[in-house]
Amino acid sequence: MRVLIGGGTGFIGQHLCHLLQENGYRVTVISRTIRPDGITWTDIHRHGLPKDCTSVVNVAGENILNVTKRWNDSFKEQVKSSRVETNKLLAKAISEAENPPESFVTISGVAYYKPSETEEYTEESPGGGYDWLSTLTTEWEAAATLPDSMNVRRVTVRSGVVLGKDGGMIQQIFFPFFLGFGGRMGTGKQWFPWIHIDDIAGILAYAVKNKSVYGILNGVAPGTATNAQFASAFAGAMWRPAIFPMPSLVFNTVFGKERGKIILEGQKVIPKRTLECGYKYKYPDLKSACHDLSSIIGWFGLK
Ligand SMILES: NC(=O)c1ccc[n+]([C@@H]2O[C@H](COP(=O)([O-])OP(=O)(O)OC[C@H]3O[C@@H](n4cnc5c(N)ncnc54)[C@H](OP(=O)(O)O)[C@@H]3O)[C@@H](O)[C@H]2O)c1
Repeated sequence: MRVLIGGGTGFIGQHLCHLLQENGYRVTVISRTIRPDGITWTDIHRHGLPKDCTSVVNVAGENILNVTKRWNDSFKEQVKSSRVETNKLLAKAISEAENPPESFVTISGVAYYKPSETEEYTEESPGGGYDWLSTLTTEWEAAATLPDSMNVRRVTVRSGVVLGKDGGMIQQIFFPFFLGFGGRMGTGKQWFPWIHIDDIAGILAYAVKNKSVYGILNGVAPGTATNAQFASAFAGAMWRPAIFPMPSLVFNTVFGKERGKIILEGQKVIPKRTLECGYKYKYPDLKSACHDLSSIIGWFGLK
């Protein structure tokens, strides 16, 4: 049982690799660089898929919130092509494979749904195409389409903000919150669609393992929260106050308005199909997730 994982070197990809290995799968990562445990995108382009893949997963993508990169046309193109072109290449390799895999599982984002303080979105809700980010998610998902005649199970996980100690947003905010300087971001009224890293890796692995899972799954926790509720729960788990709001101007200046939206606007996303298909969350609510994330144990390699 071999799973090929595009972007398997990243924050989500590494957690997914470990989880699948614990479940008895062999994993091979696809990376831009040559690695002992992997192959490169050029290898896929030249030689197609390795022969014995039971599943292909793609979690590759240029980090959209990289503060060192200016939000200009060239960076936006990199953000887009790292998602759309990798999905397209894998879809092509799968459709041309002599022995196609059983499943093709890809990630996308909840930016598909239009930010709103009042709407509630499930996997069946309409979205896409109202701004640059939602158009990106539409094209990202469409790029993984396989010919109808192929008997390959397709799953797309629309992920919310992934919370974990070793990557993503928590790495940026842990120490300000730990020192008591944390607080809501912008107005704090915006929804904060979140998921613990163990659960996003868990849903992706569940999709690989379970032959009855197909289609779109919202990769968010069932315990919905606003940004202010998240800030208060995270600070509270560390016995700190959450009284220093981070003004919108800071995010708009650092990230630019189009990108700052990811933090300053949000969607109330419900994981309806994810729950219906039987996935059991390890961290369904903010309290349990923040308790895990706020523990200093793990931050210094302690177990
Ligand atoms: N983290 C979140 O909160 C979150 C939320 C929603 C959706 N997602 C999506 O989930 C995916 C993984 O996120 P992550 O947090 O694990 O990101 P990450 O840690 O930055 O890892 C992504 C991986 O993608 C590969 N990559 C980066 N730039 C690339 C490029 N220009 N072309 C091809 N591959 C490239 C890298 O692998 P190599 O260096 O080995 O090539 C990298 O290890 C992304 O597509 C992201 O948009 C993440």
